[in-house]
Amino acid sequence: MGARSSLTVVLAAGEGSRMRSRLPKVLHPVAGQSLLAHVLGASPREPGAALAVVIGPDHQAVADEAKRLRPDADIFVQRERLGTAHAVLAARDAIARGADELLVVFGDTPLISAATFERLRAPLRNGATLAVLGFRAADPTGYGRLLMQGDRLVAIREHADASVEEREVRLCNAGVMTFDGRKALEILDRIGNANSKHEYYLVDAVGIVEEMGSEVVVIETDENEVRGINTKAQLAEAETVMQARLRAAAMDVGVTLIAPDTVHLSADTKFGTDVTIEPFVVIGPGVTIADGAVIHSFSHLVQSSIGRNAQVGPFARLRPGTSLGDGAKIGNFVEAKAATLHAGVKVNHLSYVGDAEIGANSNIGAGTITCNYDGFFKHKTSIGEGAFIGTNSSLVAPIRIGNGAYIGSGSVITKDVPDDAMALERTEQSTREGGAARYREVKLRKKAKLAGR
Ligand code: UD1
Ligand code: CA
Repeated sequence: MGARSSLTVVLAAGEGSRMRSRLPKVLHPVAGQSLLAHVLGASPREPGAALAVVIGPDHQAVADEAKRLRPDADIFVQRERLGTAHAVLAARDAIARGADELLVVFGDTPLISAATFERLRAPLRNGATLAVLGFRAADPTGYGRLLMQGDRLVAIREHADASVEEREVRLCNAGVMTFDGRKALEILDRIGNANSKHEYYLVDAVGIVEEMGSEVVVIETDENEVRGINTKAQLAEAETVMQARLRAAAMDVGVTLIAPDTVHLSADTKFGTDVTIEPFVVIGPGVTIADGAVIHSFSHLVQSSIGRNAQVGPFARLRPGTSLGDGAKIGNFVEAKAATLHAGVKVNHLSYVGDAEIGANSNIGAGTITCNYDGFFKHKTSIGEGAFIGTNSSLVAPIRIGNGAYIGSGSVITKDVPDDAMALERTEQSTREGGAARYREVKLRKKAKLAGR
C-alpha cells in the first residue's frame, strides 16, 4: 500500500472574546510560542500531509503566523462565526481535493502531542469512518460530553444542550477528530444547526456517522494534553503544564535545575550538557545555552546564545542578539543587547553593552556604558582583543577601540583608540595636604556654635 495522504484543518477563527484581549485567541503565547505554533508543531507533516488553517475575518496576523510556521499552509477565512462544523467547511476547497484522512484540530489546544495525533489516525487505517479524541475532565463544565452506550459512542452533547444527568458525564470531547477523507464532505454537509446556540456543531458528525452505519471510535488521552483555552485563567493553566514538561525535558538532557519550579523556559530553549540554571531564571524565546554554562539567579535571557562554560548573572539581562563566546562572563546588573562577546570576555558588574562587538579576552570594567544611541540613530562600538576598559568609562559610539588598548577609568571616549594605545579622558586631580582636617575643623566649630545658642 502506498503512503496515505492527509489534510489537517486547524480551526483558528476564535475571536478571543472570553480572553478579553485585542489579540486573536490563537496568537496568545504559551512558553514563548503562540497556541497556533504549538498545534502546528504537533500536526502531521510527513510527505503528503497538507495543511489548511481557518481564520476569522481581519485576522491577517493569524494567517501570517501560520505561513511563517508552515509556508505550505492554505488559509481560509470563515466570514461569520457559525460554529465548528461551519468553520471546517470554510476549507471546503481543500477538503474537496480529497485526501485519505481529514484531521480537524482546534487552534486553542496547545498541549497536544504528535503521538496523540498518530493514535487518533490509526483506527482509520482499520476501516473506521470517524475517530474522536476524548478525555476525563476534572471539571467538565463547558466541554462537550461523550455519550456512550456500552463502548459505543452515540453522540456528543455540548454543555449548553446537556441535561442534568448528561452533565454528570466526565468523558469529554477534546476537539480533535479524524475522518475518512472520502466520506468527510458528505458528513460535514449533513450537519445542521438545531441546537440552543443555532451553531453548526462539528460534534454532530458522530450521530451522522452512526446513522450511516459506519464505525466511530473513541481514543482517550490525558486532560493535560487537550485543555482548550477559552480564558486567561486556562491560558495560565496550560503554561503551568507546559513549563513542567519543558523542565522535565531539560533535566532529561542533563540540565541541572536547582529549583525547577522557579525556572521559566521557552518551548525552543536549547541546552548542551552539564548546564546549570540557578533558581529564579527566566528564559524567553530563542535562547541556546552550550555545555557547562551556568545561569545564575534572577537573570532574564531572550534571543541570545551562551557559549561553553560561560557564566551569566546573577541579575543579568540579555536582550535579543546577545552572543557570548566560550568562557565569557556577564556579571551582576549587566545588560547586553545586539552584542557579540567573544571567548573569555568579562563584563562583570553594572554595565550596558549594546550594539557592540568585543574581541576575545577583553575586560570591561564596572560601570562601563556603550553610548549607542544619540536620540535618533543607533551606533556601533567595536572593541578589539585583549583590551582593558577602565571602570566607569563611557564609550560614545560609533567608536573603535583597538586590540590591547587600555582605557583609563572614568573616561568619556569619543575618538577611536588604536591598538595598544592608552587613552585617558579626565581632568587633573588636585590634592591639598591637610585639606580634609581643616574642612572638618571649620564645620565642627560652626556646629558647636549653633548648638550653644
Ligand atoms: C469545543 C467543542 C466541545 C469540546 C471543546 C474542547 C464543538 C461544538 N464544541 O467547544 O465539544 O469539548 O471544544 O475544547 O465543537 N472556531 C472557529 N469558528 C467557529 C467556532 C469555533 O474557528 O465558528 C474555532 C475556535 O477558534 C476554537 C475551536 O474552533 O479554536 C473551538 O471553538 P470554541 O468556541 O473554543 O469551542 P468550545 O466551546 O470550547
Ligand atoms: Ca475551546
